[in-house]
Amino acid sequence: MKFFIDTANLDQIREANDLGILDGVTTNPSLMAKEGIVGHDAVMQHYKAICEIVDGDVSAEVISTDFEGMIAEGEQLAALHENIVVKVPIIKDGIKAISYFTNRGIRTNCTLVFSAGQAILAAKAGATYLSPFIGRLDDINFDGMELIKQIAEIYAVQGYETQILAASVRNPLHIVKSAQFGADVVTCPLSAILGLLKHPLTDSGLATFLEDHAKAAAK
Ligand code: E4P
Repeated sequence: MKFFIDTANLDQIREANDLGILDGVTTNPSLMAKEGIVGHDAVMQHYKAICEIVDGDVSAEVISTDFEGMIAEGEQLAALHENIVVKVPIIKDGIKAISYFTNRGIRTNCTLVFSAGQAILAAKAGATYLSPFIGRLDDINFDGMELIKQIAEIYAVQGYETQILAASVRNPLHIVKSAQFGADVVTCPLSAILGLLKHPLTDSGLATFLEDHAKAAAK
């Protein structure tokens, strides 16, 4: 399973990249706004900066909701860097845009996915990645992991090549379950990645090893 970081914060992207486990980055308009990145030129520059840090796919989301607008934005984004993946919402014009991009060799990430039906349409359109939002489903009392399981089963049965990119990840357990249920990629905040490291027995075990070593060395 590939690890993407879900942020537009350059420091966090660098920190995750320095771990040596990072395969890519996902952003969305809210994450860009959170970093204060507004305006066409600033947005383009920021995507370039991300691509310079990480040697992997970088999802850049279109703002338009009509076909022509998505095409114009997506082509501009894709031309920025070979690692840019155009992120498109699962709406009617979005599916049309994904089919258009697929036919022209432009890679896509179909976003805001909350159902297996949406996942089937996106795969038919040839999306490179599909982003089911686990956390937002959990937030409204639906089991996000069940959706990952269902899509993984459908894609395996049908032989779809679209990669399942588990998104809206909130905690380390979402990462573990995504791996267990067959996600190809997980995109997560830095806190969830670092959360994978945590175990009290690791901490107490390490403290004991260091104490024992210090005692023996002092003899
Ligand atoms: C990434 O592709 C998604 O836009 C992101 O994971 C959404 O996460 P959120 O539900 O925490 O906003």
